[in-house]
Amino acid sequence: MKMANHSSFWFLIYFGCLASFSPSYSYHQTDLANSYFSSGQFTRLSPEIRDLTCLGCRTLVSGVADRINDGATVEEIEEAFILECVVLDLFPGDVCEGMVRLLGEQVVYVVNHTSFEPSDICGFVLGFDHCSGYTGLTNWTVDLPPGKPEPDHPEPQEPESPFRILHLSDLHVDLDYAEGAAVNCDYPLCCREAYGMAQPGEEAAGPWGGRGHCDIPAHTLDHLLGQAKEIVQPHMVYVTGDLPPHDVWDQTRDSNMAALNLTTSLLYKHFPDIPVLAALGNHEAVPVNSYPVPSVYEDGWDITWLYENLAEKWSYWLPDEVLPDVLQGGFYVVSPYPGLRVISVNMNYCGTGNFFLLMDNVDPVDEMKWLVYQLTEAENMGDKVHILGHIPSGDTCDKTWSHVFNSVVTRFESTIRGLFFGHTHHDEWEVMYDVDDATRPVGIQFITPSATTYSYAHYKSPSFRVYTTDGGYDQATWAVIDHTTYSMNLTEANANGLEPIYQERYSAVEAYGVTGLSPASIDNLVTNMATDDALFQTYLRHRFTYAEEPSEVSECDTDCRKSTLCTLVTADSSDDRPCQRIKDIINGNE
Ligand SMILES: *[C@@H]1O[C@H](CO)[C@@H](O)[C@H](O)[C@H]1NC(C)=O
Ligand SMILES: *[C@@H]1O[C@H](CO)[C@@H](O)[C@H](O)[C@H]1NC(C)=O
Ligand SMILES: *[C@@H]1O[C@H](CO)[C@@H](O)[C@H](O)[C@H]1NC(C)=O
Ligand SMILES: *[C@@H]1O[C@H](CO)[C@@H](O)[C@H](O)[C@H]1NC(C)=O
Repeated sequence: MKMANHSSFWFLIYFGCLASFSPSYSYHQTDLANSYFSSGQFTRLSPEIRDLTCLGCRTLVSGVADRINDGATVEEIEEAFILECVVLDLFPGDVCEGMVRLLGEQVVYVVNHTSFEPSDICGFVLGFDHCSGYTGLTNWTVDLPPGKPEPDHPEPQEPESPFRILHLSDLHVDLDYAEGAAVNCDYPLCCREAYGMAQPGEEAAGPWGGRGHCDIPAHTLDHLLGQAKEIVQPHMVYVTGDLPPHDVWDQTRDSNMAALNLTTSLLYKHFPDIPVLAALGNHEAVPVNSYPVPSVYEDGWDITWLYENLAEKWSYWLPDEVLPDVLQGGFYVVSPYPGLRVISVNMNYCGTGNFFLLMDNVDPVDEMKWLVYQLTEAENMGDKVHILGHIPSGDTCDKTWSHVFNSVVTRFESTIRGLFFGHTHHDEWEVMYDVDDATRPVGIQFITPSATTYSYAHYKSPSFRVYTTDGGYDQATWAVIDHTTYSMNLTEANANGLEPIYQERYSAVEAYGVTGLSPASIDNLVTNMATDDALFQTYLRHRFTYAEEPSEVSECDTDCRKSTLCTLVTADSSDDRPCQRIKDIINGNE
């Protein structure tokens, strides 16, 4: 029972923290804590630990429900959790207190009002397939129009002057960053004076960033944007979300807005004349991941403060007529160039860290209906589409939502010419497959590595990426031809005190020897990685953005290879057939 208690408490901490710390996979799961923090869908946990976690979770949820029935107040329930967190010494007391106070009211509200059983709640939040037969929340679908055109995935030659799109993600600027603070500390976020200065012999936060659990200071972001502009000379910029820092136990609407305001003004400073199109991250909300669904608005749960602010900030780059969509659900469509429509989707209504989905998960804010409508319009007009979003649909994304999204992309595969995501902080893709034929690739979610250094297991080199596309002229296909990723060397920048140099790390076409970046090309590439060791090692170096000491690279064994490649072919979180196919290839090769 002690273990179950411990594990159930970890689940509470999961509530608040995991979803925000998870964008980092570690291969060193030496203890329970690490394993919780290091895998978005917990796919790497052993079956025993999964079972224990499911049990602990159900115990916890039932316990909360019992206390509510006994007439306990939110305050009393929170006190009990804070005490347990402190007694078990899971985090510094202020982290326990802050996290529980930020999340307590909504967790109690959802447990008190949801129609789902504890096993469903746990299956949803933990994303386990075998949390006592959990198969998903309410199953729903969206109507798709008939008359699907023949699949068309062009791989055009590079035009003389390709259209360049800069992609930035997971900026996580930390306004309280302090040079000289410890880069590793007892807190989930370090490199702040309040969380401890470096003692002699400990590594300290440098002038440009910290090689530990740190987000980046404002001047590093400012400099990165300046370099990106100079090096890439983009025609357009995509920013796929997550602007505030990882101090998730200590956030206020004001502190998040300050990060949003600053980031927007820096983007505006560097890119005043070109479209900067953004998508909403999970970290923009306070508390993190919390995007209330309309059915709880009348009980006082509110997200308008965020959507109103976004509408105002994004209005630098968006026409007024799309702002009502931002206010309704944090999404929009815009046509920055003739022939191209960019659709920014809000992935938080699929996020398994969003407990409000347990109140109503059936197409909240009618986003999928809207998306199908917009794609139908684009198809009818002969326009092509790029989709921007934060959480990739195969990551911590509700199975039903994920499946519906994949069916929409399958229907409109010839209209959608690229999907651009972030969230994981890694350099990766998610290949999307025909929902009726899991072997036929229909789309690619390009996932760009983070601008922040933050990663639970290690740290990342601040990065950005450019896509060369066949765009910007009449009859353009708007297909992605290649992507090139840049990152800086933090050790070097901190050591010599000079400005960081953003180096070209690799071009996908060159590094992987592919002819283009169509869904079929990337599917083929990932399949080859299952058996080609050198190719897989090349990919791992890119995945971890050339940060030094790449122990993740050298220590990636067969299980690690399976789970890494599985993440690259899982864009439908309800379908493990593409993953199984990769595993079979790896098993057959042993
Ligand atoms: C649970 O819901 C009931 C009915 O809406 C309400 O009266 C009660 O105060 C709620 N309990 C808590 C702890 O919020
Ligand atoms: C949900 O509904 C779709 C369409 O009817 C179906 O294909 C799918 O199997 C269902 N999923 C579950 C988990 O029942
Ligand atoms: C952010 O910008 C909004 C709108 O311009 C402003 O009202 C608000 O005070 C700013 N918030 C912070 C914390 O800077
Ligand atoms: C970064 O710089 C350090 C110090 O000069 C060097 O040891 C390291 O190899 C560099 N890393 C990369 C990926 O170039």
